[in-house]
Amino acid sequence: MVVRRLKSKVMEPYFNFTENFMKKTKAKKTISSKLKYIQMDHPVLQHKLALLRDKNISSMAFRQIVEEMSQLIAYEATRELKTTKTSVVTPLEKTTCSKIAEPLLIVAILRAGLGMLNGMMKILPFATVGHIGIYRDRFINATVEYYLRLPKDVKNQKILLLDPMLASGDTACAAIERLKEYGVGKIQLITLLAAPQGVAKINEHFPDVEIYTVSLERELNKKGYILPGMGDAGDRLYDTIQHS
Ligand code: URA
Repeated sequence: MVVRRLKSKVMEPYFNFTENFMKKTKAKKTISSKLKYIQMDHPVLQHKLALLRDKNISSMAFRQIVEEMSQLIAYEATRELKTTKTSVVTPLEKTTCSKIAEPLLIVAILRAGLGMLNGMMKILPFATVGHIGIYRDRFINATVEYYLRLPKDVKNQKILLLDPMLASGDTACAAIERLKEYGVGKIQLITLLAAPQGVAKINEHFPDVEIYTVSLERELNKKGYILPGMGDAGDRLYDTIQHS
């Protein structure tokens, strides 16, 4: 079990949005004067998000929509993967095609990140997979890592780090810090909803991490829930309740 205290609890929003970053993706970039993130505003994604927010849908429907959205996001977030030319013989002739030429590692933050994993894997079956179990413990005021499994060789690998809800950013920061200890390459943090506080925290601590989200939300409430949000993503995925 690894217990970590983030270096800085007080964070000033970080802003360093370079021209280079702007060119990196064709997804719409939304920039406030303080936050750096990539908003995926495709109408199909936004439509599915509206369905997901509805408190009356079943957990089966919730899981299915998260999976569908993850497939669309997988497509959007991998635009920059390197490709190489390869020769293919069609039934009619030989031609030159592009194939993906770099390894990709998908890491799901337990438990809600699991809801996104299947959809990602369907579109990116060549990717390897890791899991990190990490949570914010309010009693000891620190993040606690209780599980970590990564493939053998992750050095310099591109990472899609999955957590549908970027709330305070503590868990995501701890996961990123941990992955960086293994010398991984570029990290893209893939979320469905992001609170401004979480985006600012990642921007401040890890300005090299790209945050993808379907919606930048209004705020976090006192209990740490995202507003307007969709509730506890893990509970909605697996139809559980919190026993205190
Ligand atoms: N995690 C969730 O699942 N939901 C929130 O609103 C915040 C964090």
